[in-house]
Amino acid sequence: MRVLLTGGAGYIGSHTALCLLNAGYDVIVLDNLSNSSPEALRRVEKLTGKSAPLIVGDCTDRNDLKRVFETGPIDAVIHFAGFKAVGESVEKPLDYYDNNLSATIHLCEVMKEYGCHIIVFSSSATVYGTNQTMPLREDFPTGCTNPYGWTKWISERILTDAAAADRDMSVVLLRYFNPIGAHESGCIGEDPSGIPLNLMPYVCQVASGKLQRLRVFGNDYPTPDGTGVRDYIHVCDLAEGHLAALRYAAENRGTQVVNLGTGVGYSVLDIVKAFEKANDLTIPYDICPRRPGDIATCYADVQKAKEVLHWQAKRTLEDMCKDAWNWQKNNPRGYEK
Ligand code: NAD
Ligand code: UFG
Repeated sequence: MRVLLTGGAGYIGSHTALCLLNAGYDVIVLDNLSNSSPEALRRVEKLTGKSAPLIVGDCTDRNDLKRVFETGPIDAVIHFAGFKAVGESVEKPLDYYDNNLSATIHLCEVMKEYGCHIIVFSSSATVYGTNQTMPLREDFPTGCTNPYGWTKWISERILTDAAAADRDMSVVLLRYFNPIGAHESGCIGEDPSGIPLNLMPYVCQVASGKLQRLRVFGNDYPTPDGTGVRDYIHVCDLAEGHLAALRYAAENRGTQVVNLGTGVGYSVLDIVKAFEKANDLTIPYDICPRRPGDIATCYADVQKAKEVLHWQAKRTLEDMCKDAWNWQKNNPRGYEK
């Protein structure tokens, strides 16, 4: 099976490329490198001993998409490509709607033209919006609080409607919770540009001395220790979830929406303590005001992933903390873009 990974040079895409190659799939990547480095795929090739060809191009450009489909038959697409910074999406909503939605629409059109019917899409737990009971189940109401979230919500809608109109199509919408960690080799990992916005990369940079102290955003949430609770999932478990989704999509038609999480929530201070214990380090931190837009608690109901995809996360929080630090330690300047 030959699979196109749009955005495959990025954090989740590169780990998925590695996982697919190891499972015997052929992979081709289309990425405009707006938030990634080709070095990630060179390392994937080194780790697997297999080729992960990269076409540098844009998913919003039909000619670039056609260029990929002209390289030979593509059986399925995993659509990672998109902008993903929540705060930036509030400042530049049109850029986000343009990039993330044009990419999804043009990709679907070109897939249809070339007879490719299977698509797995990177959605997000952010589509559940606020004021929900936990754990979040796939049939809960949805709604978003920022343009990034709406691009995921609308892309889900576009793909669902496209599948309803084309009986050959198979769509799996994967709602990721909080991916962290890195491949155990320490050769590929998350390489944020500038000061990290997310918790784990920030913790790693405090551990390395690049940043001085962690800011814990709020300790007055209605959670056991007052800090925000999230469902952190090892990026390699997440990558394996895509493999399971591809297997499912190859056998079934229509649309499925599935959470990819562990079903367990950890607080910010749980993460700090686990990271310190796993790596024998100290993370200095200050309690700061809440970050606007954050919710208290978010974790997944994982029953559907087990039943439909026959997949569940295996790796522990200790694995996530060790692997995140191993990557950071070995690559203090990331891929050195
Ligand atoms: P990433 O930024 O590392 O990867 C996205 C890749 O897409 C990058 O390599 C970027 O260069 C590429 N890209 C962006 N726009 C493109 C375009 N128009 N054409 C071609 N390439 C383009 O992000 P990631 O963390 O690997 O996330 C992958 C997907 O998962 C994204 O769609 C993201 O929104 C979604 N997601 C991520 C998280 C998370 O916490 N990391 C959570 C939920 C959902
Ligand atoms: N946090 C801190 N200090 C930091 C960074 C984060 O205390 O420096 C806290 C946040 O307040 C939150 C928790 O750590 O309680 C996790 O925050 P992240 O920024 O790592 O992740 P979010 O849950 O806010 O958001 C992530 C992705 C979104 C995605 C969402 C759900 O960034 O794109 O998960 O999948 F939508």
